[in-house]
Amino acid sequence: MRRIFTSALSLKEQIDISRIPKHIAVIMDGNGRWARQQGEQRVFGHHHGVRAVRETAESCAELGVGYLTLYAFSTENWSRPKEEVDALMELLVQTISGEIKTLMDNKIRLKAIGDLDSLPSNCHDELNQAIATTSSNAGMELILALSYSSRWEITKAVKEIAQAVKEGKISPDEINEQIIENHLYTNGFPDPELMIRTSGEMRVSNFLLWQIAYTELYITPVLWPDFGRDELYKAIIDFQKRERRFGMTSEQLTIK
Ligand code: FPP
Repeated sequence: MRRIFTSALSLKEQIDISRIPKHIAVIMDGNGRWARQQGEQRVFGHHHGVRAVRETAESCAELGVGYLTLYAFSTENWSRPKEEVDALMELLVQTISGEIKTLMDNKIRLKAIGDLDSLPSNCHDELNQAIATTSSNAGMELILALSYSSRWEITKAVKEIAQAVKEGKISPDEINEQIIENHLYTNGFPDPELMIRTSGEMRVSNFLLWQIAYTELYITPVLWPDFGRDELYKAIIDFQKRERRFGMTSEQLTIK
């Protein structure tokens, strides 16, 4: 009887709204393969990926997710063919300026992490403009990881801390996890509770390596341009079935 009742619920109704992950991170993968399947160039897939970005951001904001971090361009992506890099940068500029209304309508605050100075100046300017325009929105934070690599981020943090030690501002004994976190781009954001990767690849590709120590991973074969509301709901339903133990035993969690 109960099973019949459950299957009659829509995916959205199956979500426990009191246990929505506070921070979701997404590795948006599979644009190139999706384009090839349509007999098109890779860039066609990136263009269609924008719809998935919009739908995912709107759905997360609607559910009450606090932070959504999207891996939009990695440090390694600079090695792609120049035409693809140029097209991606142009798409970023167009999307950021074209989606301001979506951000405002959904009360989303835009943020960015990564080596932002390495972005072309028009992309950098558009990004700063959108960050300023949306800064008073009180809803979800949408964090774009651009020219981002976790190893780069950690190396930068280590250099800054070493410099602080050299200048006598802190002693080596005082270095702890909090100090390291203070030097990461994600300083001020909670760690992701759920990381979604599309296109079925079983890896984390240099994304938020420090921050995902206890993150639940959800990998779907769906290619990014086909990702949307229902796929997000499935990921959250799956997340809500997990037992998050943080190194403790099941019994300890029950007592708490
Ligand atoms: C990975 O697919 C996707 C990217 C490197 C770029 C993601 C960009 C977008 C979705 C467009 C705009 C985004 C924003 C946030 C405005 P892939 O090219 O590696 O696919 P493949 O593995 O099938 O080759």
